[in-house]
Amino acid sequence: MTLHRVAEEADVPAHGALLVHLGGLEIGLFRVRGEVRAWRNHCPHLAAPVCRGRVTGTLLPSAVYAYEPGRDGEVLQCPWHGWEFDLVTGRHLVTGSRSRLRGYPVEVRDGGVYVQTRV
Ligand code: FES
Repeated sequence: MTLHRVAEEADVPAHGALLVHLGGLEIGLFRVRGEVRAWRNHCPHLAAPVCRGRVTGTLLPSAVYAYEPGRDGEVLQCPWHGWEFDLVTGRHLVTGSRSRLRGYPVEVRDGGVYVQTRV
């Protein structure tokens, strides 16, 4: 495993992705709950550039006919077919689905964002 400095921390937007390239991979950096997360720009459904999708929220579990929005800035919506992924865990937001985004460990230090990969 190797750590690669891929960006300046200040360049990661508060809402949306900063796309970076690393060894043939395209990776989206997202700021979520005050931390930087790194996800491969490849949708597990049909390989869309998922990190170019909209960062949004979702509806929280609630009573019947009660629609309670929440988790703003923590959900990534694929631009091709609208699948939604949790930007904290990478999981597809459908009960029972085993699909998930491919993620990479991230370290932030000295103003830089470091991503750990096998290359
Ligand atoms: S390719 Fe992402 S939802 Fe279909």
